[in-house]
Formats: sequence, structure tokens, C-alpha cells
Amino acid sequence: MDEKSRQANRVAGVRLIQTENPEKVGQKASEFVLELLQQSQQQPKPVSIVFPTGNTPLPMYQVLRHTPYTLWSNSHLFHLDEYVPPAGRHLPSRYETYEEYMKRELWDYVGGHQFFIGHYIDRLKEYDELARQNDGLDLVILGIGGNGHVAFNEPGSASDAPTRRIQLAPTTMRDNFGTADRPGYPTEAVTMGLGTILKAKHILLLATGEKKREILQKAFDPSTPPSADCPASWLKNHPNVTVITDFSVDFTRS
Ligand code: GLP
Repeated sequence: MDEKSRQANRVAGVRLIQTENPEKVGQKASEFVLELLQQSQQQPKPVSIVFPTGNTPLPMYQVLRHTPYTLWSNSHLFHLDEYVPPAGRHLPSRYETYEEYMKRELWDYVGGHQFFIGHYIDRLKEYDELARQNDGLDLVILGIGGNGHVAFNEPGSASDAPTRRIQLAPTTMRDNFGTADRPGYPTEAVTMGLGTILKAKHILLLATGEKKREILQKAFDPSTPPSADCPASWLKNHPNVTVITDFSVDFTRS
């Protein structure tokens, strides 16, 4: 890695990479994925990678979907979260499912064994078991929600929460749909649990845009203990987290 602004910090286990723009965040993030995929070509065990949705990872997917299909042949790709389809989905103002997003942005272009969490909605324990296979998850890629959620682990989520169905916070519905009360739009989701995420060997958290600065600063503030009020703060307990931003942030404040 050649970035000039990588910083040491006081939250053990958390490494910060600061770049200039969302495209460079995507480029850096894709390097971690490519390294794992190359490793998977040299070993019998598949690598297991978890992918998020949202605006933040779009530049990463732009890079990854141009990689050779066969590079993904020994990979297990997991989907981080999905909306629970509400009654009335036939309404004309339909929303895009995360499965549609994932296919459009990456999974339709690459090989590998693909696991959509929405297909496991009635058997989420099985999803956690799949994530434990092959020596567990190698890499979980995350964004961060405006209220500190990671995946759909909304405020109130414990650090050992399993993969589960969850009520969306009103702020999340406003962020994602423009209003907290939109007929035909989801009020619930299924999410990979923090307990599963925190068992991964490496966690990559991507954050772009000034509006993410405050919540990221709060989540990784070394002077406050992790808490369910800001689910992303549980990542401070993990031994190997890389945060990539396109803005300056300081995790050494006390
Ligand atoms: C959504 C998703 C998260 C995502 C977050 C941020 O609610 N459930 O997985 O990380 O919001 O999205 P964005 O990258 O668009 O800011």
C-alpha cells in the first residue's frame, strides 16, 4: 500500500486509510478483495467474502466487475443484508431489492458460489452455519449507516447478535426511502448479525462523504467504550479492522 496518509491509531486492531475520493476508496478496497482471490487460486480451501450494498461500495464494484470471471472460481460470496418484502410490493413505486443491486453491480459478472441472504429468510441459522464453513469468513466489507448501523444491525444490537430479522429504525427508512412511512416499502430487514461479522478474520469498513465523518468519529472514538447505541463501535473489539475513507478523521482523540 502506498497511500501517504495511513495513520497509526490508538484503537488497537483498527487501521485507517485516508484517500482523496470515493473512486480511490473503491480502488483500495478492491485490492483487499483481489489479494484474497489470488490467494484462493493457490489453495484448495475457498475464500469467503461478504459484500454490502449502498452507494459507498459502488466504485469498488466498478473495479471488481472487470476482473476475470475465473479468478472467482474458488470463492464463496455472501450477501450482507436484505429487506423483508412487505405486503403490497406490487405497488408501482417499487423499491430495488439488495439482491437486484448485488446482481447488477457485481455478482452477474463473476464466478464463485453466491449466497443471497434473502433466500435464507426462513432459515437464517443455516446462513450463519454456512458462514462458519471453510474456516469462517475471510473478509467482511461494510458501509456505515447514518445512525451507526452496520449491515442492518440497528442501534440496540448486541455484539453477539446472530443473523436475524430486524425492525428498521425510522432514521434508516428515511435515509433509504426518503420517508419513514412509505406504503409498499419495507419496515423490516434480514441482516448478518454482529456476532457473525465480528468472527471474520478481517473487516473492511468503507465511508465516503463528509456526512459520514461524525458517525465514524463517534464509532471509533478511543475514549468511549463500544456500545449498542452505535453498533459500528463494536468493531473496536475486533483485532483486524481496516477503515477506508475519503475524508480526514482522527481516531487518536482522547
Ligand atoms: C444501508 C445498508 C448498509 C449500508 C448503509 C450505508 O441501510 N443496510 O449495509 O452500509 O445503509 O449506505 P450508503 O453506502 O448508501 O451510505
